Amino acid sequence: MPAERCVAFAPGRVNLIGEHTDYNQGLALPFAIREGVTVRAQAISGSPARIRAQAQDLGESDEFPVDHPFRVEGWRAFVRGVVAELGRAGIALPGARLAISGQLPRGAGLSSSAAMEVALCLALIGLSHEQRGEVLGPVDRTEIARLCARVENDWVGARTGLLDQLACVYGEPDAALRIDFRSLSIEPIPLALGDWRLVVLDSGERHCLADSGYNERGRECAQACRLLGIASLRDADPGAAAALPQPLRRRAEHVLSENERVEDTVAALGHGDMPAVGALLNASHASLRDCYEVSTPAVEAAVLRLRDAGAVGARLIGGGFGGSVLGLFAPEVKPPAGALEVRPSAGAHLI
Ligand code: GLA
Repeated sequence: MPAERCVAFAPGRVNLIGEHTDYNQGLALPFAIREGVTVRAQAISGSPARIRAQAQDLGESDEFPVDHPFRVEGWRAFVRGVVAELGRAGIALPGARLAISGQLPRGAGLSSSAAMEVALCLALIGLSHEQRGEVLGPVDRTEIARLCARVENDWVGARTGLLDQLACVYGEPDAALRIDFRSLSIEPIPLALGDWRLVVLDSGERHCLADSGYNERGRECAQACRLLGIASLRDADPGAAAALPQPLRRRAEHVLSENERVEDTVAALGHGDMPAVGALLNASHASLRDCYEVSTPAVEAAVLRLRDAGAVGARLIGGGFGGSVLGLFAPEVKPPAGALEVRPSAGAHLI
């Protein structure tokens, strides 16, 4: 039996600010977190080559031929999608056993999906190189993010942008990433929290982007662009956007104001003005709730719990319709029970 092995880790992410802007060619400020997904890949012999995948937390498995990963539902769609997209990209994969494990709750808005896609992708690319006796050189991280987003779009059915995957591959300790989704330029912005704390609190409501209103929001933004005759809401003239019919006007208002809040947050961080960051988080949440309409009663309750505990700012993160909320706490102020402290951490890597 071949002895080649490869282990990859990919983190989840928290988006400090800049929500529902990625598929509108806008701006966002996410960071990778410490918690993530690990994939242990081992080459196995046999013809035709097969993948045997095991989701250890779920106690479930999957098996399929490398050359014919036909579509299925659930976590298996991610594995089959990654294998298919790597094949399409011309990467020759050996048969492999894949053990998938992690500390990220699924559907909790911390990007467990992107972490799984990226960890699978890196582990399989690493394994393919090992089998050919080559050392894996630097990989094009943006290409990996793109490939993983195709898995999300075409195999899982969520029309997401690149936010989660780029945060996962480019994450850095002590920095958030200012991402411009038009140019795909990425600038690390020091996130010097000192004794301040960022925490996430699970609303308890699981979300599944493919089945939520997420794709509908994407369609609404595309419709607003058609009416305005522009390529993306990034380019919308505020006066022209104000003449759009509802709910498109509210959607455009959110995207335009959220892009500005990203720039304002970068500036506030530069001045070490954490109360200003907190106020921007609150403004982002109000816009996501009232203009973009992606909040739910469970999400509102979680935001309220953070604010009641003394958060200077709190907002929903990720796609919305459930998942986690983010809170910013001043030194000495205690976050509520069940909140998980998050810190910017390194991006995906081989172990
Ligand atoms: C989810 C998607 C991202 C992004 C966010 C909202 O996390 O995967 O692409 O659109 O929602 O900002």
